[in-house]
Formats: sequence, C-alpha cells, structure tokens
Amino acid sequence: MRPRIAPSILAADLGRLAEQVALAEQGGAEWIHVDVMDGHFVPNLTFGAPIIRALGQLTRLPIDVHLMVTEPEKYIEEYADLGAANFTFHPEATIHLERQVARVHEQGMKAGLALNPGSPIGLIEEVLDELDLVLIMTVNPGFGGQNYIEAGTGKIRRVRQLLTARGSAATLEVDGGITTQTIRRAWEAGADTFVAGTAVFGTPDPAEAIEGLKAACGVAV
Ligand code: DX5
Ligand code: ZN
Repeated sequence: MRPRIAPSILAADLGRLAEQVALAEQGGAEWIHVDVMDGHFVPNLTFGAPIIRALGQLTRLPIDVHLMVTEPEKYIEEYADLGAANFTFHPEATIHLERQVARVHEQGMKAGLALNPGSPIGLIEEVLDELDLVLIMTVNPGFGGQNYIEAGTGKIRRVRQLLTARGSAATLEVDGGITTQTIRRAWEAGADTFVAGTAVFGTPDPAEAIEGLKAACGVAV
C-alpha cells in the first residue's frame, strides 16, 4: 500500500486554479479534493457545481468531493453528471443514510461517509459494508489551516481494524491538519489517503510539497 494524496483546492489560489491543479498533478497527486460547504452544516461557505465543472475540464485526476452540507442528497445527480468520482458526506446531514449511499452508487460514483472529531464510529457502522470510503476528520470541518486533533489517530486505527474485520477494501481517508509532521502518525494508524490543503497550496512549491508528504510516510513511493 502506498499513500495517496488528495490536495484540497480550498487552500489554492482560485484565480490560478488551472496552474495550481497542474502543479498538484506534477507532484504526483492522486485525487483532487473539493470541499463543498453550505454555511449551515459548517460555519463557512465555499463552492459547488461551477468549480466541479471547471475541474472536470482542467484535470483527469478523480475529483474527490467532500460535502459539508445538510441534505447532501440534493446534489447526487448533479455532481455525478459533472463527473465527480467520489461523493462523501456526513451521516448527521441526512436521515436515510442507506438509501443515499445506494443512490450515490446508482449514479456511478464511489460513496463515502465522513466522521467529525466528535462523531462516533457507530454512526456509520450499519452501512460500512456498502461504503467505498471512510473519511476521518482530524479537524472540525469548516476551515483550512487548523491543527491536527491527535485523538483522530486512535480513531483511524479503530476504523482500520473494523474494515479489516469486515473484509472491506474501502479507502480510509484523513482530512484536516495533515503536514509532514502529522501524516506519518495517520499513515501508521492505517489511513491510506490524505487530504492536504495548506500543506500543499500554502507552500511556494505545491509539487514538491506533495512529494514531501509521501516521503514523510517513510515508505518507498
Ligand atoms: C476542512 C476541509 C479540509 C481542508 C483541509 O473543513 O474538509 O478538506 O481543506 O485543510 P488543511 O489541510 O489546511 O487542514
Ligand atoms: Zn475536506
């Protein structure tokens, strides 16, 4: 297993989005992470369909959409049509979790569920076998540039154990405060995919930053 990096365009210079995405590709990014926020589920507003559409023109990398919105089900068809690869949402944001996961699959996307730092693993356990991805938040969602919450490491380990016990091949992704310092703990705890905003686009050389994050995991890549 090798670490996969999903740079978050939340930290990118949107005036130079094409250039920023090209730099991420050069650095070996595997996915592009898009943080959709509604100012309701989280205390911030970001972007939605227009940016996903633009990214579809700019890159062939899979677009990893993270919805921090209430009623994420409203966007399943639209984002699938725009070419999103992964559709990850929060269990507290919708009522009929199993149905929405199935609808994401019907639209040809991978289905992910995200757990806030204060959210128990039990919230997603009943649908775990249906998931392609579990996203562990290591910050409270809403903003980039926050510090990694250490308790997340133990949670990553517990979710990894659960996935192994169930024979699940789901991706275990971590989001928030990933740096060359914190990535190794998350990797060793069993995460395989790392969202990084500030640690990639907040640096002068995003391509080099991605290589540095992978190197910090301590495995040959
Ligand atoms: C936080 C978002 C993250 C954010 C991470 O609410 O879900 O994806 O972009 O930013 P950094 O890597 O700066 O913590
Ligand atoms: Zn995110």
